[in-house]
Amino acid sequence: MLVKFSKLLKASQNCNHFSKSLSWWSKVEMGPPDAILGITEAFKKDTHPQKINLGVGAYRDDNGKPYVLNSVIQAEEQIMNERMDKEYAAIHGIPQFCAKAIELALGDNSPIIKNGLNATVQSISGTGALRIGAVFLQKFFPGNKEVYVPDPTWGNHIPIFNHSGLPVKKYRYYDAKTVGFDFKGAMEDLSKIPEKSIVLLHACAHNPTGIDPKKEQWKELSDIIKKKNHFPFFDMAYQGFASGDVANDAFAVRHFLSEGHQIALAQSFAKNLGLYGERIGAFTIVSSSAEEAARVLSQIKILIRPMYSNPPIHGGRIVTKILSDPKLKSQWLLEVKGMADRIISVREKLKSQLAAEGSKKNWNHITDQIGMFCYTGLTPQQVERLTKEFNIYLTKDGRISMAGVTSKNYKKLAHAMHEVTK
Ligand SMILES: Cc1ncc(COP(=O)(O)O)c(C=O)c1O
Repeated sequence: MLVKFSKLLKASQNCNHFSKSLSWWSKVEMGPPDAILGITEAFKKDTHPQKINLGVGAYRDDNGKPYVLNSVIQAEEQIMNERMDKEYAAIHGIPQFCAKAIELALGDNSPIIKNGLNATVQSISGTGALRIGAVFLQKFFPGNKEVYVPDPTWGNHIPIFNHSGLPVKKYRYYDAKTVGFDFKGAMEDLSKIPEKSIVLLHACAHNPTGIDPKKEQWKELSDIIKKKNHFPFFDMAYQGFASGDVANDAFAVRHFLSEGHQIALAQSFAKNLGLYGERIGAFTIVSSSAEEAARVLSQIKILIRPMYSNPPIHGGRIVTKILSDPKLKSQWLLEVKGMADRIISVREKLKSQLAAEGSKKNWNHITDQIGMFCYTGLTPQQVERLTKEFNIYLTKDGRISMAGVTSKNYKKLAHAMHEVTK
């Protein structure tokens, strides 16, 4: 008994020893919780039967449920039947996947692809593509190693570049007065920043505002970026998901290339194929010759190898199957259009219901904006009231995920929005 007690005492002393005096981590401070995940936590705790979560960045069907595309299910069935091996992919991923991914972005007859000017690698979704791009630019970009991002931008852009050693600055983008694009401000800023800077552009469905430049404005943005010798880095996380048309959503990328820009491009298949958790994307650098592209690719591989060796295979196989099989591809194109159309239709429903509620405010921006997110223009105080009084959860900046709006809850949402903005 005595022996047992002394053993216990020793163990507890050891435990104290580690937790108090000797721990390597005693100086590690508690980090702030992720803003969006915090909203989901609060939503889960709420027991109100008609609560609404408008914080999530993932598509939901009209019943508020996650949606697995039929084209994806069929591709997975084919993959299972083929009993494919589980060997490692190459460092740059599945070669056919890379070819199909860049073809989707640039179009079937792209001269860039025909002439072998693209260095394309498979990535860990869009985030991973941005991260590869950031470390590549940090090491090799010969111009001003500062990244200019739109104000506001997706919350992860800034840490992705900062963690890769690139300082981040902002150019004007959102105009709070019009709840629209500050085109004049963006043009002014892009003409004033140091020449040869890196400029991050959301190819379509700008997150968080849902506000995209018009085609004519993209052309002028391309001109000023060219005149100032800036380097355009496109983040295309929503191709097809914005307008329902993959070519239309790739307009900016294709236009810049047709004007002779050498671009970087991050692609994600999380939203347009509903492959969020599969973490499948692509990163491309466009070079001036096939020989240069080969050199660039060799260096990208050298950067990837110590990060994660090579990417996971399952998502890459699904995308390759869908994009290579004409039947599956046309089914997918219909499905992505279906998702985009549902979002567009709930935008219209929400706007007309606000009018039906008697709101005299101008809500045109709800339908002018595009993609998953809507920047409502609600103030943090109004957002707080939506949550406290109406059990509606969203980020403090007034951004709502339109994917969380359905034909069953839009009336409640419109009523609440009217109540807090009267
Ligand atoms: C603008 C933008 N870029 C990139 C991403 C990357 O997402 P993922 O890493 O899931 O592909 C997102 C996701 O929300 C996004 O909104």
